[in-house]
Amino acid sequence: MSYVPLICTIDVGTTSTRAILFTKEGEEVAKHQIEYSTSAQEGSRRNSPTIFSSEGVALNMKDSRLVIENVPSHPTLLFPKPGWAECDPCHILNNVVQCLSECALSLEIINSRFSIYNDDAIVKEKHLPYKIVAIGLANMRETTIVWSKRTGIPLYNGIVWNDTRTASLMNSLSRSTPVGLLDEMLERSGCPLSTYFSCLKWKWLYQNVPGIRKSYESGDKDLMFGTVETWLIYNLTREQSFKTDITNASRTGFMNLQKHQYDPKLLKFWNIDPNKINLAPIVPSSHFFGSFKLPETNKLDPQLKQLPADQKNCLNRMLDGVPITGCLGDQSASLVGQTAFHRGDAKCTYGTGAFLLYNLGHKKLISRHGLVTTVGYWFDSLDESEDGEHCNEPHFCLEGSIAVAGSCIQWLRDNLRLIDKASDIGPLAAAAPDSAGVVFVPAFSGLFAPYWDATATGTIFGITQYSTAAHIARAAIDGVCFQVRAILKAMLNDCGSQTDFMDHSEEANNSNLKALHVDGGMSRSDEVLQIQADILGPCVSVERTTNSECTALGAAIAAGLEKHVRMWDSLKDVKKSISSHQNGDNEFHAKLSDAERRTAWNLWERAVERARGWLS
Ligand code: G3P
Repeated sequence: MSYVPLICTIDVGTTSTRAILFTKEGEEVAKHQIEYSTSAQEGSRRNSPTIFSSEGVALNMKDSRLVIENVPSHPTLLFPKPGWAECDPCHILNNVVQCLSECALSLEIINSRFSIYNDDAIVKEKHLPYKIVAIGLANMRETTIVWSKRTGIPLYNGIVWNDTRTASLMNSLSRSTPVGLLDEMLERSGCPLSTYFSCLKWKWLYQNVPGIRKSYESGDKDLMFGTVETWLIYNLTREQSFKTDITNASRTGFMNLQKHQYDPKLLKFWNIDPNKINLAPIVPSSHFFGSFKLPETNKLDPQLKQLPADQKNCLNRMLDGVPITGCLGDQSASLVGQTAFHRGDAKCTYGTGAFLLYNLGHKKLISRHGLVTTVGYWFDSLDESEDGEHCNEPHFCLEGSIAVAGSCIQWLRDNLRLIDKASDIGPLAAAAPDSAGVVFVPAFSGLFAPYWDATATGTIFGITQYSTAAHIARAAIDGVCFQVRAILKAMLNDCGSQTDFMDHSEEANNSNLKALHVDGGMSRSDEVLQIQADILGPCVSVERTTNSECTALGAAIAAGLEKHVRMWDSLKDVKKSISSHQNGDNEFHAKLSDAERRTAWNLWERAVERARGWLS
């Protein structure tokens, strides 16, 4: 091979988009990130691109021609009413193209340093040029977009996963639907009735957007329904491919987990008739999704300047025709990026929200303790037998989602101005030994797992004249970590253990769960992870991966496992190549006494009860 193969990953999160180029060892060669704007004046904040030399040294790209100065006339994220959260799908597409373009330019600069490709000395030193061989995609899930096939234009903004406008609709459905039917729907889809999943968002769109209802009823089949990956794959292949992967489909509420197909009974309940609206076929996570083709400029946000010709040319040189071969919902992607491939492996990603996944292996289990059953990954081209894990079948997970984690820290920064930057939160919280009785239930979008209460609102209890910013910061972190504990307890209980893993009981020691693998923004703070370990107790350690881009890496792994790409041959090969870059210095163990932990936990449970019902 006269080049070093790279996978290009696109990671579209709730608050930012990034593109990263990965080697087989999981090393980043180039990266570019755009944070979404939430106000019109601000525009999308564009960081200078980071590129890495072959020795892993970040090259200084300041003042280069790569920084783009586009200012959108409206923000990417919109919060039109309390509890509403929308995104502009064209901005998101545009951000993806910009990130890809920056990475392509960076790669061209890096490769130009190895211009004498065939020089023996260079080859011996392994200074080969890089080549992008596949594209992987990881994306925020559930966010729902409906667009016109004829024009390609969305008929409404994307309704973001944490939007709670459907709370009253959900309450009336929960009152009017027989319990037996709700149970059956949970059994089929793995999703409880909640504002979170795409099904209720679709119902709202149908009821409230006249253009969508009219088109649906006309039966002209012009409507395209998709979550973020389907919208992006459709546009990044110039409308040649309309697909969703199984992990994203499992978050719509429409998919039968066992059959990996849309379930006619679920579709009927949600009034979504596949003869009247186009639903993307469901495929495995490693799959040929189509070949990259730069979207036509009129599909990009018309408010933004078109991509300069030299950037467009470079993007085409690097990516035109490159196959998109991996796609995972972002939480499944971080499970894969953590190489948590075994039954009993658990991970938590602290992003905008926090998301815990517990690998169940290839046997599905429906939660009786308020968790969602979801698909972790499906790599159908792998050999069946590896470790007896049936790795070519869909792997299921129990998932517990917390709606508000990093967004609470953002709120303390932007709305209360308690801190200047997010990374200040750990040191501020650590300035107080505890929260001095302050308990913060950060239920800004109601409470998700395992409580599922859309009537709860964010509430701070126990404030006195003595309370300081440090106590509130500490209570905010505690509020996220207590929810992680509640979810892990539910996971263990679902798997047959009765433990509350408060202390060293025999049952807790015998449970499969020994470590929680963590990644994401808040996990960078040692203080946060020590608080998490203290709240979890002595049976579960908290282990941080050294790879800060687990989600993007997971999508790269999905793309690289595809049968025509074969960057890795097996999951063992993935683990072997990537784990060499992890170390054991990032483990956190409980230091708090059992009695202190129990007292703090009881206070939290009382606070949750009091935060409920405010909106009812
Ligand atoms: O389910 C929502 C989740 O996919 C969003 O993840 O990382 O964008 O907060 P993130």
